[in-house]
Amino acid sequence: MGLMNNEPRGSHIVIRDMDIDDMATVFHLGETLFTSGELPILYRTWDAYEVTNYFNTDPDFCLVAEESGDIVGFALGTTFEKEGSPWKYGYLAWIGVKEGQQNRGIGKRLYRELERRMKEEGVRMVIVDSESDNKDALAFFQRRGFSVAEEHIWLSKILRRKGQKGKRTKNIKNQRHKE
Ligand SMILES: CC(C)(COP(=O)(O)OP(=O)(O)OC[C@H]1O[C@@H](n2cnc3c(N)ncnc32)[C@H](O)[C@@H]1OP(=O)(O)O)[C@@H](O)C(=O)NCCC(=O)NCCS
Repeated sequence: MGLMNNEPRGSHIVIRDMDIDDMATVFHLGETLFTSGELPILYRTWDAYEVTNYFNTDPDFCLVAEESGDIVGFALGTTFEKEGSPWKYGYLAWIGVKEGQQNRGIGKRLYRELERRMKEEGVRMVIVDSESDNKDALAFFQRRGFSVAEEHIWLSKILRRKGQKGKRTKNIKNQRHKE
């Protein structure tokens, strides 16, 4: 396997299927990436069930990047079909590369392998979602050929308990700061 342009000489990164022994490592690596202060309001939650559920449902779309025995990245995805559509869709739920190892082409290789597998399964469209302020991820996906074709806005509302006082928040931005 040849070296990627932006891969340092001497490194040897292997993209392979995630196996059962990798699950704890992947979960903890994800914790450092998805539960940090930078991604506080992602509507989906990173937890151990995300790893086990994707692994149980679609092990073929659960990949890790390994370097010298260390897991340095992962991608978890699945495929689905929609009623009324002849297409099969791919969904990349989570992709992450260890801090300090980013920008070396690892994410690119993980995505490329996932896409190759999805294509082989007959997928016609791959979907990803990201927070609108996750600029790194958006730049990464755009470089992979994704366009911001659909804008999906999610709203949230705090359900106050009986007797709880406080003004209604006017918009999500204010709400984020208050909570
Ligand atoms: C997004 C992420 C997976 C990318 O992985 P990575 O290994 O750093 O990306 P790569 O080194 O393979 O970069 C691939 C390309 O994206 C570009 N890219 C990566 N980070 C970038 C950034 N911060 N700004 C602009 N471009 C960027 C690279 O320049 C490269 O471009 P190329 O295609 O011209 O070579 C990684 O940054 C990450 O783990 N982020 C935190 C978790 C996250 O937000 N995941 C996405 C939501 S689930």
